[in-house]
This record gives sequence, C-alpha cells and structure tokens, in this order.
Amino acid sequence: MRKFDSIIKSGTIITAADTFEGDIGIKDEKIIQIGLNLEDKEAKIIDAKGKYVMPGGIDPHTHMDMPFGGTHASDDFNTGTVAAACGGTTTIVDFSIQSKGKTLKETAAIWREKADGNAVIDYGIHLNITDMNDDILEEIPTMIKEGYPSFKLFMTYDGMRVTDYILMKTLKKVHENGGLTSVHAENYHAIKYFTEKLKAEGKVEPKYHAVSRPDIVEGEAAGRAIKLAKLCGTPLYIVHNSCEESASEIKRAREAGYPIMGETCPQYLVLSYDNYEEPGFEGAKYVMSPPLRNKSNWPYMWKALAKNTVQLVATDHCPFFMKQKELGKEFFGKIPNGAPGVELRMALMYTYGVGGNNFDLQRFVQITSTNAAKIFGMYPKKGTIAVGSDADIVIFNPHIEKTVTKEMLHENVDYTPYEGMKLKGYPEVTISRGKVIAENGKFTGEKGYGKFIKRKAPMII
Ligand code: URP
Ligand code: ZN
Ligand code: ZN
Repeated sequence: MRKFDSIIKSGTIITAADTFEGDIGIKDEKIIQIGLNLEDKEAKIIDAKGKYVMPGGIDPHTHMDMPFGGTHASDDFNTGTVAAACGGTTTIVDFSIQSKGKTLKETAAIWREKADGNAVIDYGIHLNITDMNDDILEEIPTMIKEGYPSFKLFMTYDGMRVTDYILMKTLKKVHENGGLTSVHAENYHAIKYFTEKLKAEGKVEPKYHAVSRPDIVEGEAAGRAIKLAKLCGTPLYIVHNSCEESASEIKRAREAGYPIMGETCPQYLVLSYDNYEEPGFEGAKYVMSPPLRNKSNWPYMWKALAKNTVQLVATDHCPFFMKQKELGKEFFGKIPNGAPGVELRMALMYTYGVGGNNFDLQRFVQITSTNAAKIFGMYPKKGTIAVGSDADIVIFNPHIEKTVTKEMLHENVDYTPYEGMKLKGYPEVTISRGKVIAENGKFTGEKGYGKFIKRKAPMII
C-alpha cells in the first residue's frame, strides 16, 4: 500500500512559530508526516526547493453573491473561490446576510445553497443578523452547535443596521453559548448627517463617499461597541479596521486586558483617499465602507498588524462591475459598497508586509492563516502545517515579480483596485486537502470540491 499520496519535497516550511527545511507527506487529504528525506516511489512528488511552504491562506471576510443596494456582488462561490485559490487561499469564511423575516436556519440554508457544489475551496459561514427578535435570539445556541459560531452585526447601513440594545443582547447570548460576535463599526447617524449635507451642497461625486464617513465615524462606533462588550463582559471582534481612530480603540482595550480582537484589510494598508481623486467616475472603484483613508494612517495600521493590535488581514472581498457602480453615477450614496481583493491578499501582504520590513515570515503566516483559524474555530484542522491537519498548503515563490493587471486575475469583475502595483513574491502552487487546485496562475481544481466547515468555538488571541 502507498504510504503517501504525495510528498512536498525540500521546501522551506514556514509556520506561525518556525522556519525549517523539510518534506511533507500527505495521505487521504491530511498531513501525515513532516521530516527529512521522506520516500515513496509511487507518491506524486511536488518539488518545493527554494520556495516557501506555508499554510494555505484563510480569508475570513468575503461577500460572495452578496445583495447590496439593489444589486449583487459579482463573484459567486464558484468564481470567487477560483480567484481565492489562484491567490493562495484555501479557506474563506463568507457572510450570510439575514433577509427580513428569515430565521437564522433559513439564512444559513440560503448561503449553503449558494456555496455547496460550487465552491472550489473549503468554506465556513458567518451569520450576519439584520432582523433580530426573541425567536432569532433563541436560535443562536442551535446555530453555534451546528457549526456557525460567529455572528456579525452592522452598526450602519439602512435596512441592515441594529441598535446598541440589540448589539448587547447578541453579545451576551452569543458569548454564553460559546460563539463570537463581530461588528461593522461606523456611526449610522453621523454618516446620515454628512451624506444629507453633502447631497444638499451638490457634492455627489464618488470621493464624497469618503468625506461622508470620516475616521472618527469609525472610531466612535468601534469605541462604543468595545464599551458595550465591556459592559456585557464579552469578547468582541471588529471587522475591517481602516484607520488609527478605530485600531487605537482596540489597542487601548487590549492593553487594559479586554478580549477585543479585529482585522484590517490590504486596501487600508496600500491604497488611500488619493484614489478617490482619480478622474471621472474612476473613484467609484474604491467606494467601500469604511472608505480608504489618508495615507497618514498607514504606519499605524502596519504596526497594528505587526504588534497584534489587530490579529489578521482579511479582504472584505465584495466586487461590483463598473456598470453596477454606475447605479451611483448621480449620487455617491447609491454606489454599491465594496471592492475585489480575494486573489491578491497573500501577494500584497508578502510584498508590502514582509518585503516592506513591516513583519517577518512567522507573522505573515499568523495574519494570513493561523490567526483566522484560531479566532474562527478551525484550528488546528486549518491554519497550520502539522501532522493531522488538513493538507491545505501554499507553495510560495518569493522571487516571482509581477505587475498587477486585471487580466492576470480570476475575479469576476472588470477592474482591480491594485492595477499597476508591483509585487515581489507570489503563490505558485495551491493545495487544498492534498489536491493541487492552482498552479502558476491557472486553476486546476474542480467545481464543488470545497466543503462546508463545521466550525468550533473561537479562541481569544
Ligand atoms: O463596502 C463594503 N465593505 N461592502 C461589503 C459590506 C461590508 O460592509 O462589509
Ligand atoms: Zn462591513
Ligand atoms: Zn464586509
């Protein structure tokens, strides 16, 4: 009998804790041995000499096929996960959005229907509650037991936002049952005030989206959510921190010993408000919430990522074609919010994070994979290279140089916000549960290969 199905040979293995030379033996979708000179004449040999062998990327913040502002995000679970795979990501956790009147069970079922049989990599599903009542609250324990331990609430967006009262009820209930609550932190009323004012003044171009949501709008909501979590005695995770105003709230809370965690995204580290000043309607490419910030935030945000103020980098991948963005041609408030990013997360973080001397290879693995697995209940099945873990691996070539073009990407959208950026270091081979699913920028996997991950209790890190 064959000892291994495949062996990844002679790579430099990088985990959240170590760097060492070795081989990885894979059998039945799992890593079964790590060592030197592993042999099996019948096994498929994957040569990794001179390359980094790292845990496959985990992106815990995507919006495949998300309904927004009368349209839908243009990547579905098939196209979006193909793009993720080609970019070195082997797991996503996507946000299911509760429609008015739907139960959480129904919401999860709707998202499973989108994902099951379509995704090419494994996936978990967060429950994004928009319509809370006592019955929904009572569903939370069951949903956690069924593998949906993470919940999100919007503090802004008409039709989806919840009150502070609902936030507190959710924080408590989720925590009591072993789950984790996240928030999209922006102050709804301040945004409404600025949006109305700008519109009345005829300031309707895409850049005013950013003007309507200044940094303090985010910092205030993040600080308030943290205080509510303190009052409830619960942990809290804050998604897509874009600026010092919000990240400093997390820092202060963590330094005082509170279990507050969060993420940032590549766009807040390498893009800025200046992008909104691009000519014509080009600024619409960057309309997302929170918006891109002044560059002066970059050093703080890189440091926040390096020093564990925020624990990971997610993409908030939520693409819309320019035709869809044109829903807001006359008024920024109607531009669907979101931008693509799932395919470039690993390369951007390597180039500008490791290459930019912002952190080392261990931190790279922590923020792109291990910490997401820990926080969102998938560790050590996912997020590490260890005997017994799923063989979700990326072979990363630190020498590949590329200039980003839309054409090289697989995302189902007609632009990339990163067009023209220089990259040094790119994923070469992506392996999902032992199977090579992408190689040299080409997808080699199959539709429906991805499995739903029944996630466990979150870890506070
Ligand atoms: O602009 C964004 N971020 N769109 C996706 C929905 C969200 O708020 O995460
Ligand atoms: Zn959000
Ligand atoms: Zn999002």
